[in-house]
Amino acid sequence: MFELTGKTAIVTGASRGIGKAIALKLAELGANIAFNHLGDGEKAEETVKELEALGVKAAAYECNVADFEASSKLVEDIIAEFGEVHILVNNAGIVRDTLMLSMKESDFDAVIAVNLKGTFNMTKAVYKHFMKKRRGRIINISSIVGITGNAGQSNYASAKAGIIGMTKSIAKELGSRNVTVNAIAPGFIRTDMTDGMPEKAREATLAAIPLKRAGEVTDIANTVAFLASDEASYITGEVIKVDGGLAI
Ligand code: NAI
Repeated sequence: MFELTGKTAIVTGASRGIGKAIALKLAELGANIAFNHLGDGEKAEETVKELEALGVKAAAYECNVADFEASSKLVEDIIAEFGEVHILVNNAGIVRDTLMLSMKESDFDAVIAVNLKGTFNMTKAVYKHFMKKRRGRIINISSIVGITGNAGQSNYASAKAGIIGMTKSIAKELGSRNVTVNAIAPGFIRTDMTDGMPEKAREATLAAIPLKRAGEVTDIANTVAFLASDEASYITGEVIKVDGGLAI
């Protein structure tokens, strides 16, 4: 349905999970893919092979999105290799869940650094490029807990709420340059991240989902594909929940 042939997308954290599904979906629609990861080289190589099998150009880079200089160098390297960039998907994220009572300063700082500052670092790195080209798509992966809050995730919910504020602000800044900036707020999606949850918490979450199932990574990838497509050209500053109704 959607067509991205000739476009280049950067997807952060695409060696596995939601990021990998996003990269594969955009590639299926014809986009070349540059992605990064942190310490996940083997899986990244597998992902590159799967992307290339879809007939697009693909490259993996090891780069910590929490590092400002490394993020701008990453985007420079990708532009040098791919020519230009049309789509940025800020997906890389981590959790360090615990009640604030036992949350260490380092748990808070690490989650803010990767999820929120990482989104800033990568957005800042493409900002001028998109401005000059007078087009671009930025799609930020937030979370429904950035809207609802969640006990045990004060660090993560703060970062994900921050991403929503950043999304709306940059949408206002870049609208006149034909750049759209949107966020997706996934609910409970089956990945390595959620497989690590305690069994009781997982069961309680599943019971609260009106559609009575966990989301699949493809549910998020399909929404990214729509937001990256020409068909979504009049949508900006929006937050789309993809959560089976969990946060209604
Ligand atoms: P995951 O843990 O399976 O994959 C994370 C990816 O990010 C990996 O490729 C990893 O190498 C990369 N990464 C981690 N730290 C990095 C860093 N500092 N620099 C560069 N890359 C880094 O995670 P999952 O579940 O696929 O989540 C992807 C995104 O979706 C995250 O932003 C997460 O917060 C968000 N999300 C996930 C939900 C879920 O239910 N799985 C729900 C709501 C949001």
